Amino acid sequence: MKVGRGASAPPFLVMDVIKAANAQAAALPAGAPGILRMEVGQPATGAPAGAVAAAMAALGARAPMGYTEAFGLPSLRRRIARHYADHYGLAVDPARIAVTVGASGAFPLAFLAAFDRGDRVAMAAPFYPPYANILTALGMQPVLLECGPESRFQPTIAMLEALDPRPEGLVVASPCNPAGTMLHPSELAAIAAWCDRHGVRLISDEIYHGLSWGSVAEASAAAFSPSAVVVNSFSKYWSMTGWRVGWLLLPEDLVRPVECLAQNMFISAPHIAQLTAEAAMDCTAELEANKSRYAASRAALLDGLPACGFTDIAAADGAFYLWCGISRLSNDSVAFAAAMLASAGIAATPGVDFDRGRGHRYLRFSYCGGVADMQAAPGRLRAWLSS
Ligand SMILES: Cc1ncc(COP(=O)(O)O)c(C=O)c1O
Repeated sequence: MKVGRGASAPPFLVMDVIKAANAQAAALPAGAPGILRMEVGQPATGAPAGAVAAAMAALGARAPMGYTEAFGLPSLRRRIARHYADHYGLAVDPARIAVTVGASGAFPLAFLAAFDRGDRVAMAAPFYPPYANILTALGMQPVLLECGPESRFQPTIAMLEALDPRPEGLVVASPCNPAGTMLHPSELAAIAAWCDRHGVRLISDEIYHGLSWGSVAEASAAAFSPSAVVVNSFSKYWSMTGWRVGWLLLPEDLVRPVECLAQNMFISAPHIAQLTAEAAMDCTAELEANKSRYAASRAALLDGLPACGFTDIAAADGAFYLWCGISRLSNDSVAFAAAMLASAGIAATPGVDFDRGRGHRYLRFSYCGGVADMQAAPGRLRAWLSS
């Protein structure tokens, strides 16, 4: 029987690490120290209290939860547009906002609307694996730009100029996952202008906006290009991974194409989750408190990991990840992560998930779990590595 080419999409390895960590946690004897969960970018905090209260009130009132318009609740789209005015000083027409099933649901819509089968879409490596895996499943071709600390793990105009043939698209993420590094606003502006000049569609993943640590300012690609597609989500700053709400800020020419795709592929994002997301946008005090906990965890790890033997830790300007070299400890990140989980009870993601070529010498730690767990990690690692 025929199996489609989409079936050859590679796995998203972190999901396998989650499964292994869940199994190990379930098998722990009573009273044993728990697993420190550092493998996934899932805030330990859950949706903000005001947002949960809004959800409970809507459910308590038995508000009908139906399909919404494909692009989402008009009030949420207006609220997101207001966020662009408040956070970036940008005037955005709510008609350009498409509410999606997480950023994950936004990618196939954006890629299908912007590109054709066979089109080449460039991105920095290391990279968030689903960019390449979704493009591959859709018959498009990811083009990897090998990046390192000299460009803050971000693409440069020189790298783009060197591509022959020129790609049809470019995905950027600032802050990026796994390195957490950012493009300076002037670099993003230059990349956006280069893309416009050469007819290259820019897709800017801004999911970690709101979570930057002061070294580089946050800027949206929407400020620099009328043709860029911006992706964002309630999963990270708003701490709502499981609610599955994200959005696209679309250029005019892609609004109707994406709407037609969304109508057919998803109908709409879940109604209750959209109501909750709208309320979350007014829970700033709680969200800023979450952010200060990430900052404390980041400081503890940046302080403690080098003494454990981790090297070349990327300059994490934002997000909640540390991309760490392990070459003093191992040359096989998959085996190292498995041993670390089995013996130290710490789950982290092997670098090969993000960079098949160089990732065997890297590990990604996520530090959005509970602060006490994050602060305990260096001590546990030291004890394990010296045993
Ligand atoms: C860079 C990046 N983009 C997109 C996503 C997907 O997020 P969502 O939960 O909104 O689907 C993630 C999730 O970790 C991510 O790290």
